[in-house]
Amino acid sequence: MTDLSTTYLGLRLKNPLVASASPISKKVEKARQLEEAGIAAIVMYSLFEEQIIHESLEIDHYLTRNTDSYSEAMSYLPDAGTYSLAPEKYLNHVSALKKALKIPVIGSLNGVSKGGWTKYARRIQDAGADALELNLYYLPTDFNLKSNEVEDAQVELVAEVKSAISIPLAVKLSPFITSLPNFAKRLAEAGANGLVLFNRFYQPDFDLDELEIVHSLDLSTSSDLRLPLRWISILHGKVNADFALTSGVHSAKDALKAMMAGAKVAMMASTLLLNGERVIPSMLNELQEWMKEREYESIQQMQGSMSQKSVKEPAAFERANYMKVLGSFRNLP
Ligand SMILES: Cc1cc2nc3c(=O)[nH]c(=O)nc-3n(C[C@H](O)[C@H](O)[C@H](O)COP(=O)(O)O)c2cc1C
Repeated sequence: MTDLSTTYLGLRLKNPLVASASPISKKVEKARQLEEAGIAAIVMYSLFEEQIIHESLEIDHYLTRNTDSYSEAMSYLPDAGTYSLAPEKYLNHVSALKKALKIPVIGSLNGVSKGGWTKYARRIQDAGADALELNLYYLPTDFNLKSNEVEDAQVELVAEVKSAISIPLAVKLSPFITSLPNFAKRLAEAGANGLVLFNRFYQPDFDLDELEIVHSLDLSTSSDLRLPLRWISILHGKVNADFALTSGVHSAKDALKAMMAGAKVAMMASTLLLNGERVIPSMLNELQEWMKEREYESIQQMQGSMSQKSVKEPAAFERANYMKVLGSFRNLP
């Protein structure tokens, strides 16, 4: 029998397929269906720093009637109705999911700055989460802010959140970092037990008729897998953290590639939102069949088997591959 089990953040999982943060975790019934279909763990949708701060400002506003206490940034957020009581609701939902499911539930906080809001890390733990994912979604637009200052602030935030909890912490990060290996190492040293590669930045478009910016979220395809695949294969075995691959996992083959790069789990959002839980049993079957055919006994045996752990000069290796790929193009007009 092929052993599909893996470990992630110290959690023992029956297989490497994990539902990544998305609205699919908002309904307990849906989460239960994912579990029944075979998903090994579920990451909840994120609770945002702004939602937490918004709530405390709203209480402040109610008590002091001081409209100036609302910062300009807050005015960009959806109206209060959407956000009110979001933090309490979130905590109740962690408990509800924990009660309904046997698989691990990973809470998710999304924030950029240190401060009082990080106490919610502890509250998510107290509500029953098995681990916490911290999503560092941030787009620097300040021309005076240097890259090391951005990274220092994120490392400090990770240390602050880590110090508030005793459950494992994973950090979901951006691919847009000048020296990712160094940043990944610093995040692990600051207390990240896992690194989730990558945050999928949504990119706004322009509507040329209305001359408006269009904010829309496109779901991924399997070709989005290549960016995290490359980076996990470079970082595997050299950073003291478990890797989760997110972006572009749509098939058993995508999940197998993630494992071979060195990921402990393959996370999915787009395919679950598009196709529902029915994709899970067929992916698990295909995973097993593929492994049997090639005589792999376990997932753990293949994890990292195609990583660059034994490549002495990954940068030179990458440049050589880049040259080969450019040189291999033959379809000239
Ligand atoms: C509709 C939608 C909502 C999402 N919400 C969150 C979120 O709340 N927190 C988060 O960290 N990631 C969120 N994500 C990102 C996913 O967790 C995932 O990392 C990303 O979609 C890439 O995986 P995929 O290629 O399987 O979609 C969301 C993605 C989608 C499509």
